[in-house]
Amino acid sequence: MSSTPKVFVTRAIPEEGLRILREVAEVQVWTERLPPPRENLLDAVSDVDGLLSLLTDEIDAHLLDQAPRLKGVANYAVGYDNIDVTAATERGIWVTNTPGVLTEATADFSFALLLGAARRLVEADAATRAGDWLTWEPTYMLGADVHGKTLGIVGMGRIGRAVARRAAGFAMRILYADPSQSEEMEQALGAERVDMETLLAQSDFISLHAPLTQSTRALLDRDAFHRVKPGVIVINTARGELIDEKALVEALDDDRVRYAGLDVYAEEPLPRDHPLVTRPNAILAPHLGSATVGARRAMAEVAATNLRELLCNRVPPNAVNEPSRRHCP
Ligand code: GLV
Ligand code: GLV
Repeated sequence: MSSTPKVFVTRAIPEEGLRILREVAEVQVWTERLPPPRENLLDAVSDVDGLLSLLTDEIDAHLLDQAPRLKGVANYAVGYDNIDVTAATERGIWVTNTPGVLTEATADFSFALLLGAARRLVEADAATRAGDWLTWEPTYMLGADVHGKTLGIVGMGRIGRAVARRAAGFAMRILYADPSQSEEMEQALGAERVDMETLLAQSDFISLHAPLTQSTRALLDRDAFHRVKPGVIVINTARGELIDEKALVEALDDDRVRYAGLDVYAEEPLPRDHPLVTRPNAILAPHLGSATVGARRAMAEVAATNLRELLCNRVPPNAVNEPSRRHCP
């Protein structure tokens, strides 16, 4: 192929990434604050060789069928549940993600939510601003201890492990549930691999770090919330659908869950009339886990590098599939 490849980038990502793409491709960027509407996206992919997508873009079989020249989709995220990977593989299209570069930032944010929920930081800030701080009181705005408590990590991948390291610094006992064993964490931090049942029953804090798949959807459902240690604090920086939100709201209402620190939701943005919005015992962040200058810049570089490599007929460093090489000579 001698003509310059074309790439569509579905939002204005940091310049470092765009620069990498411009070395090899003609780059079109959707610069509006909101994602491209479906029709614009369908239209845009019709003549591109590469697509740089965000988790807000639904990349399904129908869309891939409208993109006869497409060689790869580089997702600007570590999660890629917004992409029908099977459909892409069947069509000989690469799918890549951005693992590693957002691990520490996301773990920091998980811990910010954990501490913020334990010590009711957002609620307390609102009370100060509202003039509710009358004097120093022995029993005002009491929260939960963190040190010495048990943290249950669901999903001991990169981010789960980075959260475990932080928890060790806070003298927490660490349990984890994961399909595979992490000897590194067991030896270095004394983390203990347990089944979900035990994790639910023993954890004072539960933090979710699993990808969204058929087997993790609604992992925390009504049944699970009935088996938790009463007063548990639940943190989710992974994907909203890991939690049955209706069941969570009920559990927050009857204090089986004392507090929730959430960054992700089944529907994003969180609808303003969602019952979570009126719960005082929840911190509701707008999907900011990887939102640091450094992490977002690195994600742009990684996503762009993946796309550049596959456009140049090389195996992209962070492929999540192995498509047949329909495009190779
Ligand atoms: C963000 O949620 C990501 O998956 O990178
Ligand atoms: C994601 O980065 C993971 O592997 O946990």
